[in-house]
Amino acid sequence: MQVRAENISKNYASMAALDDVSLTVQSGELVALLGPSGSGKTTLLRTIAGLETPDSGVVYFNDRDAAESRIQDRGVGFVFQHYALFKHMRVMDNIAFGLRARRKNKPKEADIKNKVMELLDLVQLSGLEKRFPSQLSGGQRQRVALARALAIEPSVLLLDEPFGALDARVRKDLRRWLREIHERTGHTTLFVTHDQEEALELADRVVVMSKGKIEQSATPDEIYDTPATPFVFSFIGESSVIPVVVGNGRATLDERLIDLQVGNLPDGPAQLFLRPEDVAMVTDGGPGIPGLVVSTRRIGGNRRVTMECGLARHRIEFDAPAEVPIANSQRLQVRIIGGRVYGAGEEGYETEKLAASATSDFKWAKAEGWLDR
Ligand SMILES: Nc1ncnc2c1ncn2[C@@H]1O[C@H](COP(=O)(O)OP(=O)(O)O)[C@@H](O)[C@H]1O
Ligand SMILES: [Mg+2]
Repeated sequence: MQVRAENISKNYASMAALDDVSLTVQSGELVALLGPSGSGKTTLLRTIAGLETPDSGVVYFNDRDAAESRIQDRGVGFVFQHYALFKHMRVMDNIAFGLRARRKNKPKEADIKNKVMELLDLVQLSGLEKRFPSQLSGGQRQRVALARALAIEPSVLLLDEPFGALDARVRKDLRRWLREIHERTGHTTLFVTHDQEEALELADRVVVMSKGKIEQSATPDEIYDTPATPFVFSFIGESSVIPVVVGNGRATLDERLIDLQVGNLPDGPAQLFLRPEDVAMVTDGGPGIPGLVVSTRRIGGNRRVTMECGLARHRIEFDAPAEVPIANSQRLQVRIIGGRVYGAGEEGYETEKLAASATSDFKWAKAEGWLDR
């Protein structure tokens, strides 16, 4: 089943939760809807499920306008963040609920039992069918919720931050497991998350949302390697931003050329977005951008270094091998080996806040005479 949302808008009290959003999920595809809290993910999912009516726009299931069928007949399986299991029902009865509630085509009780056992096996909970939800861990409850959603053999599976309430370790296990289930069952699936890693690891395609709009829709590799907007760049991974100048199709920082494509940006001020791996310390005595180390912290096998670089002392972060000794207020040189240049007016994710705090730290450090030591 293909799901197509076309030009969906939805306002709550004059605030746009969805602003002309169009999205297609191909039959059998697993798509992650990724964005910060309040970006409109749940509203879009609920609109597709038929739980919200859009102010404008149409949802199609294959080529049929979904509004023409009742919610129960859309064949949507829904899993929410907070286990919506029936507390007074055993695991088996929770899973069987949707089948028993059918008015048309209700299966025989023996067939329901078989189906429940099959699903318990699929979600790896065989043997726990007689337990009550309170006797299960959080991860087990979400697996029951998924089995319950799958029991009705939905044409579309919608999951709204299904692992959001679980701890990081369990979440990681469950996302691998969900990917395996998807490979076995092949349901058309739309998965909502605010966790970048989860989206990139799990999905065939990632749709990034911000403020009720879609910023980019692409494969996990494309999202990470060629983020379409500063928002996507800064939401997807760690990032630093420094102002640069574009002229003659090239970018410069303090009149030093940076070896990056600038696309068709107009001449003038622009911004360079960098990930830690886009910056390398110069160790061969070659040319580089001079800077001053502000702080260091250990991240796995590397040391994450924050430094102020260039004439305007902009903050950037990069990783150096942990065995290389780097101390606060050390002077060193770095080279830009990656990153992306965007127009000056485009906003990243919370860059304003970050810039403000960097500036105030800088002022503080300067006032203390710390920078000149
Ligand atoms: N029932 C509602 N009434 C009023 N505002 C709502 C309602 N549901 C969502 N919103 C608003 O719409 C925006 C998008 O919300 P939502 O779709 O829940 O975002 P997300 O799931 O990405 O966190 C938010 O600003 C939220 O406050
Ligand atoms: Mg939500």
